[in-house]
Amino acid sequence: MQEISQKKKVLYSAVQPSGDLTIGNYLGAIKNWVALQEEYECFYAMADMHSITVRQNPATLRQKTLELAALYIACGVNPEKCTLYVQSTVPCHAELTWVLNTFTYVGEMERMTQFKDKSSKHADNINMGLMDYPVLMAADILLYQADVVPVGVDQKQHLEITRDIANRFNNIYSPTFKVPEPIIMKVGAKINSLQEPEKKMSKSDTNVNASVFLSDDRDAVMRKFKRAVTDSQTSVRFDPTQKPGVSNLLTIYSVFSGKTIEEAERDFEGKGYGDFKLAVGEVVADALAPIQAEQKRLLADKGYLNEVLTAGASQAYRAARKTLAKVYRKVGFYQLDK
Ligand code: TRP
Repeated sequence: MQEISQKKKVLYSAVQPSGDLTIGNYLGAIKNWVALQEEYECFYAMADMHSITVRQNPATLRQKTLELAALYIACGVNPEKCTLYVQSTVPCHAELTWVLNTFTYVGEMERMTQFKDKSSKHADNINMGLMDYPVLMAADILLYQADVVPVGVDQKQHLEITRDIANRFNNIYSPTFKVPEPIIMKVGAKINSLQEPEKKMSKSDTNVNASVFLSDDRDAVMRKFKRAVTDSQTSVRFDPTQKPGVSNLLTIYSVFSGKTIEEAERDFEGKGYGDFKLAVGEVVADALAPIQAEQKRLLADKGYLNEVLTAGASQAYRAARKTLAKVYRKVGFYQLDK
């Protein structure tokens, strides 16, 4: 169990267990989670309550939640150093969401970019949860008095609304919530689609060759890189505007091999695109193999995973309950005599 140190700043992050993770998610989120756990007191959640804002298959959601926990541990998230837990196992998230709902305006939720996107994508199921998604996320973060939240650009608006809600509450009552700061990830690499290299690689891309998933086996990885879109020139050069496909592959090669872009360019001087794509595929497949093996080993040990998630839930609960008790007192909820 992690030692709760007074000095370390608190970091909160969560990921939805729905959908498969791509190598972009790996570089953008998981690798950072691993690096950040040394410096911060980290709370890492599988945000299954967020997932159900879009219809899920229950058995699949449950399985994916476990698989994701195993994946994070396989990637180096250390449950001894941080609090790894499943959002729905800590009731405080739902409880604080209710209170925060009364400090959030319908109009501002309707204007959220992600809500508008998802409403058009899931026009048959624009449920209240979908609209309330940012408030649940604010509750996640504020419960743990997080100092910092690592975010990608797509989540920036959610962090801004979290800060607004926190400030609103603090101003009406008295300082209750830490107002969190976003942190910009150290690994700045942005991974784009292998098929449309001007677009971000996305786990929900309908083109199967566009995204490389962490669960892809060597054959699939090699096949996808072989089919990656490049250009009609021949030189392996980093130039995102003129050569987005090649530049994306160079970025992937660079982050997976630990080499700089310049070193990567040198590796492929005088080589053709065919050899280049093969080499990128190999570097990625080699990096994924040990992670997949470790994830598989962990998934075979459900007892251990359950132990980790149980400990995580009670650790998270302790921290969250403290904040929630304060909130309940401030808003005037009846306090039972002890
Ligand atoms: N909405 C985030 C995503 O889809 C996941 C998430 C839920 C989250 N709660 C959070 C991220 C709190 C950071 C902090 O990526």
